Amino acid sequence: MSSPSQKIVRPARNIRGSVRLPGDKSISHRYGMLAGIAEGASRLENYSTGADCASTLGCMRALGVKWERKNNCVEVEGRGLTLSAPECALDCGNSGSSMRMLSGIVAGQKFTSEMTGDESLSRRPMERIIRPLTAMGAKITASEGRPPLRISGASLHAIDYKLPVASAQVKSCLLFAGLFAEDETRVEEEVRTRDHGEVALRAFGAQLTRKALGGGDEVRIRGGQRLHGIEARIPGDLSSAAFFLCAAALFPGSQLTLPDLLMNPTRARLLDILMQMGLRIAVTQLEQVHGEMVGSLEVEGQALKGATISGSDSAALIDEIPVLAAIAPYSEKGLEVRDGKELRVKESDRIAAVAANLRRMGAQVEEREDGLSIPGGQALRGAEIESYGDHRIAMAFAVAALRAEGETLIRGAEAAAISYPEFFQALERVTER
Ligand code: S3P
Repeated sequence: MSSPSQKIVRPARNIRGSVRLPGDKSISHRYGMLAGIAEGASRLENYSTGADCASTLGCMRALGVKWERKNNCVEVEGRGLTLSAPECALDCGNSGSSMRMLSGIVAGQKFTSEMTGDESLSRRPMERIIRPLTAMGAKITASEGRPPLRISGASLHAIDYKLPVASAQVKSCLLFAGLFAEDETRVEEEVRTRDHGEVALRAFGAQLTRKALGGGDEVRIRGGQRLHGIEARIPGDLSSAAFFLCAAALFPGSQLTLPDLLMNPTRARLLDILMQMGLRIAVTQLEQVHGEMVGSLEVEGQALKGATISGSDSAALIDEIPVLAAIAPYSEKGLEVRDGKELRVKESDRIAAVAANLRRMGAQVEEREDGLSIPGGQALRGAEIESYGDHRIAMAFAVAALRAEGETLIRGAEAAAISYPEFFQALERVTER
């Protein structure tokens, strides 16, 4: 038996079955925030079950937004753009998304908010939102650019801002702040990142304009726009699906169905890479819901080849690189990851965490400042793995363990609940031994 904080994963013979994923984390955060500042009620079906998205709802409640969870639905009573001053610090837990995106909303309020987080979040860089929000007129104090943040809201003025790091969280933060600014805010990104903020703003009734600029985008939003509530079903989380897709990729002859999954093109690079690595993927029932593409996947494992992830792909695959790296030793040619230095400032230093855990399983791996080089054709053995409190590391190595020789013990396995509390049970259901 494994205790709540550790899990034992035994090797598998095959992966077969169907998994319905909880609602996408990126969309749930944005819908949770925008529903709070919309006018009227919203009904958000299949809202993420993860602790991170619960942190967002907790902060919204502290800002005076009433909501209720009914089964897998969150019903929110929107307050319009004016929130109420919180009586305590806004606790973002482990969630960088909650802190960075909500900063854009509290920066436009007439009160001061304190935003805090757990030990991991307290180490993460916030300068990337502090600088532009300060340029818009908010007053923000932080120690060396890290949480806790103290944000004194103001009447914001629009900015024209080019993102210095490829970050959808920062882009959404500034577009949300743009709602509270006079005139038009313009955000430019050199590398296109996930566009859920833009899509969600439109779903809630805001108007914005987007223009492709080279490999990136420019987005403009006018301040003072009022949002309206929506009734929506949030599609299954593609980054959580990545663990099952990679598990299936490990076993030639595996068969997996993933219904009702997010298929947003800015997130779907994962599917291209996995197909390149040999996984057969068919997309069915593709439709658009509130501006987001949704579809079902049928996948079948074949011999696993290698891949290289670099340039804009590293930003597009930032959340999936840990699990792609965890299966890489079993592939024919291995995996090269370059241009991924953002991996070092996620919930853990994901380059170091992946390298250390692969070595514990007996793999050879080369760690670089901005990536990893993992040779293929390696057999791994079960080992004691450390999650470093990072949900994606815990789940990535549960997948690697399926093809290892002997059992693997995942320490800090409870971290999976940050994005996907039901992960270990769901993995067990599709694993054949
Ligand atoms: C997210 C964007 C990414 C990602 C995170 C969620 C989002 O972070 O790693 O899990 O919802 O916008 P960055 O925008 O900081 O790269």
